[in-house]
Amino acid sequence: MGNKISILGFGGSLREGSYTRAMLNAAKYLVPQDAEIEIFDIKDIPVFNEDLLPDPPQAVKSFREKIKGADAILVSTPEYNYSVPGYLKNAIDWVSRPYSDNAFDDKPVAIMSGGGMLGGSRAQYHLRQVFVFLNAHLLNKPEVIVPFMQQKIGEDGTVADEHTREKIGELLVALVAWTRRIGRG
Ligand SMILES: Cc1cc2nc3c(=O)[nH]c(=O)nc-3n(C[C@H](O)[C@H](O)[C@H](O)COP(=O)(O)O)c2cc1C
Repeated sequence: MGNKISILGFGGSLREGSYTRAMLNAAKYLVPQDAEIEIFDIKDIPVFNEDLLPDPPQAVKSFREKIKGADAILVSTPEYNYSVPGYLKNAIDWVSRPYSDNAFDDKPVAIMSGGGMLGGSRAQYHLRQVFVFLNAHLLNKPEVIVPFMQQKIGEDGTVADEHTREKIGELLVALVAWTRRIGRG
């Protein structure tokens, strides 16, 4: 076994009690021993403006550095109107350009989603399409799609549902194996 795999997690929503951010927080405790995870908060990333690309805002610079420095990426997304929330797509758009310096190029990426009856699956599949264009190496299985997300959260705001925690743990194990398999760890 080589070095520890470093994972950068981001996503969730910007609201205080975000359930999909609770999934990211759960990942901190479920990460396998041969990996470590850091969560990046995208709340300070402003609306994308291509004119600012030559010298982007500090939050964008930090996001880009963290992605580039990580061996693998974990994204947690809610679903807004059957798709990826605007602020999340906005953050990804920032670091995807200039395309010659696309931060996600060649990165292993795992996605998890939570929502209503379909667990944010439509958003997750839109997000997968975005990462295909960005030449990321998407982990296909296990699919972590959490239906009726609200019911999986405890009174303290953490992921209380054992099955959901198990699936997040399985996703992390698979992401680490995938990262090593494609020679990034
Ligand atoms: C603008 C908006 C659009 C939404 N659209 C969907 C949707 O298409 N599908 C879905 O399952 N939930 C939808 N929801 C409900 C979210 O899944 C729910 O608010 C969820 O808790 C958001 O994630 P969060 O807890 O991380 O903030 C929507 C919520 C908002 C605010």
